[in-house]
Amino acid sequence: MRTQVGIIGAGPAGLLLSHLLHLRGISSVVLEKRSRDYVERRVRAGVLEQGTVDTLVEAGVGERMLREGLPHHGIELRYGGAGHRIAFDKLVPGRSITVYGQQEVVKDLIAARLAAGGDVRFEVEDVELHALESQPYLTFGGERLDCDVIAGCDGFHGVSRPAVPEGVLSVFERDYPFAWLGILARVAPSSEELIYARTERGFALHSMRSPAVSRFYLQVPADARLDDWPDERIWEELRTRLETVPGFTLATGEIMERGITPMRGFVTEPMQYGRLYLAGDAAHIVPPTGAKGLNLAVADVRVLTEALAAYFGSGSTELLDGYSDACLKRVWRAQHFSWWMTTLLHTFEEDDPYARKLQLSYLDYVTSSEAAATTLAENYVGLPFEPGR
Ligand code: FAD
Ligand code: DHB
Repeated sequence: MRTQVGIIGAGPAGLLLSHLLHLRGISSVVLEKRSRDYVERRVRAGVLEQGTVDTLVEAGVGERMLREGLPHHGIELRYGGAGHRIAFDKLVPGRSITVYGQQEVVKDLIAARLAAGGDVRFEVEDVELHALESQPYLTFGGERLDCDVIAGCDGFHGVSRPAVPEGVLSVFERDYPFAWLGILARVAPSSEELIYARTERGFALHSMRSPAVSRFYLQVPADARLDDWPDERIWEELRTRLETVPGFTLATGEIMERGITPMRGFVTEPMQYGRLYLAGDAAHIVPPTGAKGLNLAVADVRVLTEALAAYFGSGSTELLDGYSDACLKRVWRAQHFSWWMTTLLHTFEEDDPYARKLQLSYLDYVTSSEAAATTLAENYVGLPFEPGR
């Protein structure tokens, strides 16, 4: 079997790459180890930047997102007994975010690939990468797939990054001493906009998925276990951290899904080796506070599509050679923003009263200075793509 681009992973990165390549007349095969049902149900991100929304619409896979997604023109920072709106419409006119579940994006992309006769294989076992320096091929479940290029879109725990010989990649990382407990609940959102709440007991986030479904996150210790968090404890903690402004009451409901996510920043440089190109979480992850992970995956895939289109069109490797450099600028901006949002809003055990005063002072600055609020807003809605990317 042979294809132009062998793609490992049917997350947002792998599926979008396969779809964008198809629009350019480039063939690909997607190999995914989980079932279709599993990837379509996996609850994760929810905030799509302006550029991500534009990319999906331009690629013809944004129709349901435009219908069902929730456009948001601001977020609230809540601390010290008051809420403060960061107004995208005023600070970064014309740019906003859309709240639409990652698994809905995945569903839309799978449907588009299958409708176009795309080759997406689920429950594929033992994917291995070979001959990355010359004529690469993949093996899986007793089969062999020859490729011109391999795209490693298999997330942080995938097989692509470890297939690069030792010593080639530099790794930059930071672990945070806490995690996020996330829940999806059958209850109408208690707020029209997302609430990022900083309290002495830790961070809480109120997000949503639809007029009838809400999404919440709680800062918990890094070693927290779901067993320690029965429903009543989750709701009580969310109430304590969110019901801090006059007149705000948190509505509660059935918890449909729950999970604990470690908080980590991680970047590998370069994001390529031989004929292997890493995209999305396979190359970098961010703590989720800035809502950047999925959006970075989309940005990588845009750059890689242009580079592959140039390569298969004219044989030029110039853009492919520059792939990693072209991506890493945005990756590091997002790393910084995610670190900044995380330190602004979470409590750190080692913080002394002086550190807490500094954090509150910084929050006051961000919510009262138009320049500082604009910095937050333009990063949150996402920096524009460079022309042609
Ligand atoms: P993944 O989605 O991880 O996809 C990789 C795929 O590869 C998976 O389907 C996996 O099963 C498959 N795979 C792995 N190993 C193999 C193998 N050996 N063989 C074959 N297939 C394999 N980002 C945002 O932008 N906004 C947010 O609001 C946001 N919130 C988040 C909240 C949470 C709780 C979490 C956990 C993440 C959040 N993120 C957010 C991050 C975002 O979900 C990820 O960055 C995004 O999933 C990256 O997409 P990806 O396609 O690169 O990787
Ligand atoms: C969501 C996730 C995030 O990481 C974030 O910063 C905002 C919202 C969400 O899942 O809705």
